[in-house]
Amino acid sequence: MEIIILPTPDDVARTAADAIEDQVRRGPSVLGLATGSTPLGTYRELIDRHRNGGLSFAAAQAFLLDEYVGLPASHPQSYHSVIRAEFTASVDFNAGAVHGLDGMARDPQAEAAEYEARIAAAGGVDVQILGIGTDGHVGFNEPMSSLASRTRIKTLTRQTRLDNARFFDAAEDVPDHVLTQGLGTIRDARHLLLLAMGEAKAEAVAAAVEGPVGAFCPASALQLHPHVSVLLDEAAASRLA
Ligand code: F6R
Repeated sequence: MEIIILPTPDDVARTAADAIEDQVRRGPSVLGLATGSTPLGTYRELIDRHRNGGLSFAAAQAFLLDEYVGLPASHPQSYHSVIRAEFTASVDFNAGAVHGLDGMARDPQAEAAEYEARIAAAGGVDVQILGIGTDGHVGFNEPMSSLASRTRIKTLTRQTRLDNARFFDAAEDVPDHVLTQGLGTIRDARHLLLLAMGEAKAEAVAAAVEGPVGAFCPASALQLHPHVSVLLDEAAASRLA
């Protein structure tokens, strides 16, 4: 793992955008996109580089990490809608190039298996953007997730539902279940970019980066990957030894 500690969240966003831009300019690319607050600065930076720096996503595909079960793609808090509003609608991905899990699928297991097949058919993910939960989750692989897990349905912890309540009118509106790429699926991406900003993430970051590899901190599974860049602001790095 390379750990890069940067002065501010904006520096984290710019550094992550540099890695994505390098990949996209190299040729047709498959990007792995996270939602949540963490990557928003990176997406804003990429939109700016698209508008003002000639960066094109026309030859790229993207796969979302996860989706709430029970929210149709049209729901404003579905990750389909969020990623469109925050990033993909503002750049030049081709129609059909941005893939997400169907949170309304009648058979979530079949949906998960089909998603794995779609990622494989695209040639796998070149660069995967990741945030981290305060409980150490990546994607929605909550503590005690199998380190070898594949895309599947998961139950959110109370902590994660509370953390995500800010996006909904009421905490009870946060869905209980999600479809998420597994820790094994995420580790198949060729380059992982784990981003964290702020003091609230410091403990989870320390456990992920310096703790033992284990299911208590799912993000620690990233230590098993040969190419991970951990981009932190000083607050998120404040509990590192
Ligand atoms: C989102 C995702 C989650 C978030 C994590 C951090 O697609 O997979 O793992 O990255 O919950 O969320 P934020 O960035 O909102 O603190």
